[in-house]
Parts: sequence; C-alpha cells; structure tokens
Amino acid sequence: MDAPIGVFDSGVGGLTVVREIIRQLPNENIVYFGDTARVPYGGKSKDTILKYSSQIVRFLTSKNVKAIVVACNTVSALVLDEIQSEVDVPVIDVVRPGAKMAVEFTKNHHIGIIGTQATIKSGKYNSYIRTIDPSITVVSKACPLFVPLVEEGLIEDRVTDDIVGRYLQELKEYDIDALILGCTHYPLIRNAIGRYMGDGVKLVNPAYETAKSLKALLEEKGMRNQKEEASRYEYYVSDGKDKFVNFADRVLPLQVEHIEAINIENF
Ligand code: DGL
Repeated sequence: MDAPIGVFDSGVGGLTVVREIIRQLPNENIVYFGDTARVPYGGKSKDTILKYSSQIVRFLTSKNVKAIVVACNTVSALVLDEIQSEVDVPVIDVVRPGAKMAVEFTKNHHIGIIGTQATIKSGKYNSYIRTIDPSITVVSKACPLFVPLVEEGLIEDRVTDDIVGRYLQELKEYDIDALILGCTHYPLIRNAIGRYMGDGVKLVNPAYETAKSLKALLEEKGMRNQKEEASRYEYYVSDGKDKFVNFADRVLPLQVEHIEAINIENF
C-alpha cells in the first residue's frame, strides 16, 4: 500500500517522531500536519484540543492516509479514543509506546515523567505504566517553559540549563532511573536534561518506540509500502512556513521539499 502515513502535532515538535519514522520505515510516504498557528496545545482545555484534532484528522483523511500517528503527547493523552472513533484507519499515539519503553528500562521501579501541563494533569502516562506494572512508583512534573525554549532555538544555552535545573530539581529527590520525555520538543534538549539528571537516569524518547509500533502494525496488517520508488514527504502547516522549514532543517535527515500553508478551519 503506497498510501501515506498521516502524522500530526500541535506544531514543529512532531518532527522528532517523523525523524524516527523515516529512520525505521524509509519506504513509507508521509503527510505531516503541524498546527503552527494554534500551538501550544499544552495549556488548552480538552474541548479545544478535541476540536483542533478533529479538524486535523479530517484534513489527513482527505489525503487518503492509511494510518494516523498522533505525534503530540498532549493530544495522545487527552483525546486519543475520540480521534480513533472518528476514523476507520488505525491510530497510533506516543503515550502508550513511551510508557511501555520506560517500564522496560527501569530497574529500581521509580519512573519520572515530564510533559506539558495538560499531559501531566491527564495522568495518562501514570495509568498506562501502572497498568503494566502496579509496583512502579511514578513522579511527574509539568515543564511549560521547555517548549518556547526549543522553539526559540535555545538548545545549548545557559538559560535552558537554568530552567532545566529549576524544573527537575524535585525529581532528583525521588531516585528515578528512567525519565520519560513526554513532550515532542523535549528530545531536542535531551543533552541539557541528561547533564542535569546524570548518567544514572535513562532518558526515554517515546518517538523511537512509536515508530517501532507503527512498523509492527503495518506488517501485521500487510500495509507496508512495497514500491521501490523514493518516498514522498509532504508537510502542511497552519502558519509560518519559513519558520517551520528552518526548524525542520535542524531535525530531519532530509530537506523539506513540499511545504504548504493551509486553512485548517476549513476542515
Ligand atoms: N506537541 C506538544 C506535546 O507533545 C508540545 C507543544 C504544545 O504544547 O502544543 O505535548
């Protein structure tokens, strides 16, 4: 099946998931939508996030996608079931794969989770983890300033190190040995987070396991693209094409060739 995989996020952060899909599934075509006009979702209500996500899913459906990857942790945590009920194609999220990976990594059964305010408040990571292994202790912390720091390109910067220290200080008291980077942007500042938390804490990037789950699903359903021709990657945003391309150039292994701004309110 050469139909594309639809991937979406509230903005540019989901490109960390696209990067992983390109690595693990180089043969698949991708249609990406980043809601750059309405980002961030992390402090918004469930109703608003559902309204935005439903519009995006309708847009992706118009592109005849064969599966949808919800690359946004906030959307995955708040409205995954609602999205799945709106479409006939399989929907993959980032929260379940991230939780599974952290459970596999932890040796001392203490896991930390960082994410947006909405993701942390939803408790979704905690409940998935505790469903897999109820003996695990979970400690979580919302880090709302990380997203704008990454958006501003302050990847290696003293300001980022300062904010990392301020947010993560309390997690250090819990003797965690695995920390879920539960927001699309956080893998981009993993060096700063890793420096602060130290070598004893494994940083879990849900993107890796998400791409793995997608691959397993496509294989199981016989939906892999068998065609040999070069894969097509199409990117759509709701605003700010140039800023998106600048960011994509830092994250993706391939240059963005097809980029279009669309009015998502029409869907
Ligand atoms: N993509 C969001 C997430 O992974 C982060 C940015 C936002 O707040 O919209 O939770």
